[in-house]
Amino acid sequence: MIKPDGVHRGLVGDVIKRFEQRGYKLVGIKVLVPSRELAAKHYAEHDGKPFFPKLVDFLSSGAVVAMVFEGKDIVRTGRTMVGATNPLASSPGTLRGDYGIDVGRNVIHGSDSVESAMREIALWFKADELADYTPAWIYE
Ligand code: PPS
Repeated sequence: MIKPDGVHRGLVGDVIKRFEQRGYKLVGIKVLVPSRELAAKHYAEHDGKPFFPKLVDFLSSGAVVAMVFEGKDIVRTGRTMVGATNPLASSPGTLRGDYGIDVGRNVIHGSDSVESAMREIALWFKADELADYTPAWIYE
């Protein structure tokens, strides 16, 4: 998910391009301004942590682009492409390493496990909003 800072800074196209050119298949995408309720559900596992209120405030402060990409090892590879939580600790070449400085404005969220991805997809998308198609020329 591209967070409000990423959308505001015009980084949507580059984020999609990186995943697309790697060979990952975009099967769902939507632009929305999340309610505080949806943002709190998304970050429910962090409820009670000191940064939770501002995390919810920030996610619901503007438009986000929620996306579902599909492909071999997408969660692990996606996290590598996104970079470390703290952009200053992210290598150049990663999204956060190329575009971020502050942990509270780290441009993008990537699911940290397959289980989280399943939960988050169900939270942000209805089943009929995900496309079923076969990509060509990506796998042997
Ligand atoms: S933890 O405590 O290790 O589980 O937290 P972490 O996985 O590092 O981060 C959870 C999400 O909270 C965001 N985060 C913060 N936002 C604002 N300020 C501070 N200090 C902060 N620390 C962590 C972090 O970016 C994670 O959100 P996502 O959307 O997954 O990147």
